[in-house]
Amino acid sequence: MFSHLPPYAGDPILSLMEVFQRDERANKVNLSIGIYTDGRGIVPVLPSVRTAAAEIAKEVKPYVYLPMEGHGGYRQAVAQLLFGADLPAPEHLAVVQTLGGSGALKVGADLIARFFPQPTVWIPDPTWDNHIGIFEGAGFKVERYPYYDAATRGLDFNGMLGKIDSLPRGAVVLLHPCCHNPTGVDPTREQWEQIVAVIEKRGLLPFFDLAYQGFAESLEADIWPVRECVRRGIAFFLSNSFSKIFSLYSERVGALSVFCPQKDQAANVLGQLKLTVRRNYSSPPMHGALLVARVLSDATLAAQWRAEVEEMRLRVRDMRSKLAAQLKTAVPDQDFSFLLKQHGMFGYTGLSAAQVERLRNEFGVYAIATGRICVAGLNDGNVARVAETMAEVLRG
Ligand code: LMR
Repeated sequence: MFSHLPPYAGDPILSLMEVFQRDERANKVNLSIGIYTDGRGIVPVLPSVRTAAAEIAKEVKPYVYLPMEGHGGYRQAVAQLLFGADLPAPEHLAVVQTLGGSGALKVGADLIARFFPQPTVWIPDPTWDNHIGIFEGAGFKVERYPYYDAATRGLDFNGMLGKIDSLPRGAVVLLHPCCHNPTGVDPTREQWEQIVAVIEKRGLLPFFDLAYQGFAESLEADIWPVRECVRRGIAFFLSNSFSKIFSLYSERVGALSVFCPQKDQAANVLGQLKLTVRRNYSSPPMHGALLVARVLSDATLAAQWRAEVEEMRLRVRDMRSKLAAQLKTAVPDQDFSFLLKQHGMFGYTGLSAAQVERLRNEFGVYAIATGRICVAGLNDGNVARVAETMAEVLRG
């Protein structure tokens, strides 16, 4: 019956995590998957979330189904966090709770594919590997626009803008508003202004994927391109995730927001989103949404959480500086300042697949084959060793 099923080659990120867990070396270091660990190397339970969890535990209620669109208080709190003072009126905005950011991408991709036949999405080159799988799985043709310039280890802005400026009206363009995964290379505010202007001029449909809000500059600054689209009246899809910024990985908490500049379209969009959810998994789970809603709707907890996000952001930035400085000492003829210009959890190191393999095999330091590391996996206890081992493979 199943003899024609090929073996699964594995996921470049999640399967490596399994290999890491089986690795018995005591000094192994996981810089592969995007998980924030604190200064002690532990995935934190944020104190704001711990308080919310304790409060919720006292109020156990029947486990009835949530509506297809998710928990009402959660959806409101998420919309407020995302859009702040630019929050569109309800007749312009459809928000559904989703299974993390991946679930939001899938629901959004399915909806677009149903109403815009033979869709194509343009994704940055490179991007998070699963973008390709999710959009192809929903029936999209996936095309790329230039993004990373290996020569400068920065953004190929002219290539990116030029390509976006050549796309047909209605084309779907996937954009990372901040902390680009996998490179850590983001456009500046001035560059975003030009990108958004081109999107408006050509009548494109941006699909923003926001998994790291608050990890680049701040919760407000990191979502600027999205809010600018609201201000300019540009329709868009926005997936967001609370895995990293609430440290709620296994809870699968995210949302999909669709901004509808034309009045009264949001009701139909919301209806079709509900149908898409129903056809995929009926309705989302409750607990993670309750945690996020509780924190965001309580002024004290929300302020505490904002400080916790800032603490995570600053710790990662500190690790970037330490890694760059120690690499510079170990390999003085090379420039590592590019690491300091990158934002968020990830960074492209410039290491080749062969060098990454050496790092893993010889030293138990895990990175992604593309040379991506998760800087948030570094701490004062491992950064020196990681720098030494990277220097070793760089020297050849
Ligand atoms: C990553 O890029 O490592 C994270 O987004 C986790 C994942 O699901 O791939």
